[in-house]
Amino acid sequence: MKYDLILENIGQLLTMDYGKEGPLCGKEMDQLIVRENMSIAIKDGKVEEIAAASAALDWEADKRIDCGGRLVTPGLIDPHTHLVFAGSREHEMGLKQQGVPYLEILKRGGGILSTVEKTRAASEEDLYKKAAGHLNEMLSYGTTTVEAKSGYGLEAGAELKQLRTAKKLNAEHPVDVVSTFLGAHAIPAERRNQPEVFLDEMLQLLDVIEKEDLARFVDIFCETGVFTIEQSRAFLTKAKQRGFGLKIHADEIDPLGGAELAAELGAVSAEHLVGASEAGIKRLAETGVIACLLPGTSFYLNKPDHAKARKMLDEGVAVTLATDFNPGSCPTENLQLIMSFAAVMYKMTVKEIWNAVTVNAAHAIGLGGQRGVIAPMQQADLVIWNADNYEYIPYHFGVNHVGTVIKKGAVVYD
Ligand code: NIG
Ligand code: FE
Repeated sequence: MKYDLILENIGQLLTMDYGKEGPLCGKEMDQLIVRENMSIAIKDGKVEEIAAASAALDWEADKRIDCGGRLVTPGLIDPHTHLVFAGSREHEMGLKQQGVPYLEILKRGGGILSTVEKTRAASEEDLYKKAAGHLNEMLSYGTTTVEAKSGYGLEAGAELKQLRTAKKLNAEHPVDVVSTFLGAHAIPAERRNQPEVFLDEMLQLLDVIEKEDLARFVDIFCETGVFTIEQSRAFLTKAKQRGFGLKIHADEIDPLGGAELAAELGAVSAEHLVGASEAGIKRLAETGVIACLLPGTSFYLNKPDHAKARKMLDEGVAVTLATDFNPGSCPTENLQLIMSFAAVMYKMTVKEIWNAVTVNAAHAIGLGGQRGVIAPMQQADLVIWNADNYEYIPYHFGVNHVGTVIKKGAVVYD
């Protein structure tokens, strides 16, 4: 057979192909399959063969890439981003330095609500162009699949505009975009005293979201001054009955019991979890809810407390890591930086970190086994790194180590 593309002279190859159906949990995360001196053959966007370099010498292909002994891994997966929005919020940096808390900025009508104003006013075309730029940036850092939340519309038209933008990007941009409906991201000014009415309005959108296939997951910001545990339970229960997977912005700032709620409802993931209680962490382990941790947000909000990743891993929780890319609490597309943060702030091992941003991230967005692995017959999403070993990437932080990104078997960044 003649292949489309061959990668040869690979130094270390991380396949993440553990043969396990679900995500890696707790101690299982501290392992890696490292194969050395390998070649990969790609055809029709999929991995066809993985073999020792010597066995691959007589393979034929249209294109060959000599990896020069470098590291090759699956494309990274960023399972929590707020990709589609208008404007930016650099003016909040000064407020934060003066000690104005994140939730106080929101209470004053700034924060998320100021991005809502700009997003409502933006055309779909402008949103698309801006989000495509952010996706290009992510791709350049090795991210080949992202989750993207809505939540800067907070009214029917603007929420759907965001979701349609994400759907179009998924169809047209090389990066795969999996959408989450986060209409319950904040209470808009016009509904300030009627949160229940607002949540009902957001629930009514599920019809068209389902009909147009605009989101796979539904999420809510369960937080002091935003949505309570009771409101979150009622909202998510209805979304679950409609067949959507659930995610929760849980215990990000105040410990409200969001982790326990995620476990109770069988959410796919609970996200942030800085203030998650010990009981909540145990429940995540028992129920198999994936903990999506966002160290970039703790860094950027300069919080003294960080998510208790080591505790979660000891208890047997499946952990994933994401940027939380958004204009307020974490304006970065760089998942490599998040990997470094996880090493320093969470003391996660480098093996745990690699599993978090590949195999477990895929499970967190409903693509377990199909993304975040290098395996025969699976989509060929790969990164050739400018490094010869996997430990080097989180170690040397703040710079881009990507050499070449391959998406669906084609070179999309070099
Ligand atoms: O995950 N916490 C809520 N949402 C985002 C921040 C959004 C924003 O500030 O614009 C987060 O941190
Ligand atoms: Fe978020």
